[in-house]
Amino acid sequence: MSALFTPFQLKDVSLRNRIAVPPMCQYSAVDGLTNDWHATHYSSIARGGTGLVIVEATAVSPEGRITPGCTGLWNDAQAEGMARIAASIKAAGAVPGIQIGHAGRKASANLPWEGDDHIAEGDPRGWETLSPSAVAFGANLPKVPKAMTLDDIARVKADFVAAARRARDAGFEWLELHFAHGYLAQSFFSVHANLRDDQYGGDAAGRSRFLLETLAAVREVWPENLPLTARFGVIEYDGRDEQTLQEAIELTRGMRRGGLDMLSVSVGFSTPKSNIPWGPAFLAPIAERVRREAELPVSSAWGIDSPPIANRTVAEQQLDLVMVGRAHLSNPHWPYYAARQLKVERPSWVLPAPYAHWLERYAVAE
Ligand SMILES: Cc1cc2nc3c(=O)[nH]c(=O)nc-3n(C[C@H](O)[C@H](O)[C@H](O)COP(=O)(O)O)c2cc1C
Repeated sequence: MSALFTPFQLKDVSLRNRIAVPPMCQYSAVDGLTNDWHATHYSSIARGGTGLVIVEATAVSPEGRITPGCTGLWNDAQAEGMARIAASIKAAGAVPGIQIGHAGRKASANLPWEGDDHIAEGDPRGWETLSPSAVAFGANLPKVPKAMTLDDIARVKADFVAAARRARDAGFEWLELHFAHGYLAQSFFSVHANLRDDQYGGDAAGRSRFLLETLAAVREVWPENLPLTARFGVIEYDGRDEQTLQEAIELTRGMRRGGLDMLSVSVGFSTPKSNIPWGPAFLAPIAERVRREAELPVSSAWGIDSPPIANRTVAEQQLDLVMVGRAHLSNPHWPYYAARQLKVERPSWVLPAPYAHWLERYAVAE
């Protein structure tokens, strides 16, 4: 049995293998509402055999969207659409998960294929952005955000709680808090974005406070028996990496004590001035360190689309779950492809029976 195809249990949730589809924005929603695109996209990916599908970064409030095409969970109509998506993922044998987040100073952007930059000042499609401090990200995202007041902070935490409740009621069984990628929560942690001198800034404890408080508030409403996870950038590749990592590991320990069940280890993306060592599974050794030092199960993504490499990260206990993103866009049946490459017995049965039976019955010799 290959390590990648062993089941994984977290709380009361059981995944059929170690493959997960990470959140990937489709930028195809209107007013935060999902439509046929999302319905077919998520169900076809779930059919491919993955253990877990995490629905894209879904905004907890209108101003928390990255672009006007991002999904939301700030009203009941959005939750209804999401309930159908959760049910279709489950019907295909995968566990339905969702990532909820707030885009902070990276919000109010054009779609990636329409510029990927901030919507121009004065364009009625744009909106005021929020961040811990009035400091722009820079590069393609130059808009200066509003520095959040304590009331803003309390309101956004309440928005996270309301979205988590809707996700729960919509049938999701796995919740991921988006604390990564230079969006709002990552900005609170980042020395590049957070210049506050109150209790939400300053030292690592201050910069961690928003994340810990949001987690605690969500923990109150998210069922104890279901996984509550977060995606978090533990490194920026900005030249102060060891310090960031140590602070991030300390925060991860705090989140574990606060009820976090797993961390999706990622990059901070808090500054355009980074030097990321892109390459196959480049983040896996960092994830392994977080797993070991914070004593928490981890997942990670970024270039783990070769089945032997994916298998190795699990076999060598670097990762508990392997996130396979873009490879699922090019081949929604990636787990079947991986099962064949890894010589899993009866690989067709990674797929649902209406496909598996025929592929096995008329199997073509390799
Ligand atoms: C189209 C697209 C949308 C993405 N949207 C999100 C998102 O909503 N939330 C998130 O945390 N990461 C997002 N990411 C990052 C992916 O989750 C993943 O980390 C990245 O694609 C690297 O993994 P891969 O090399 O397997 O593709 C997105 C990536 C892509 C390609």
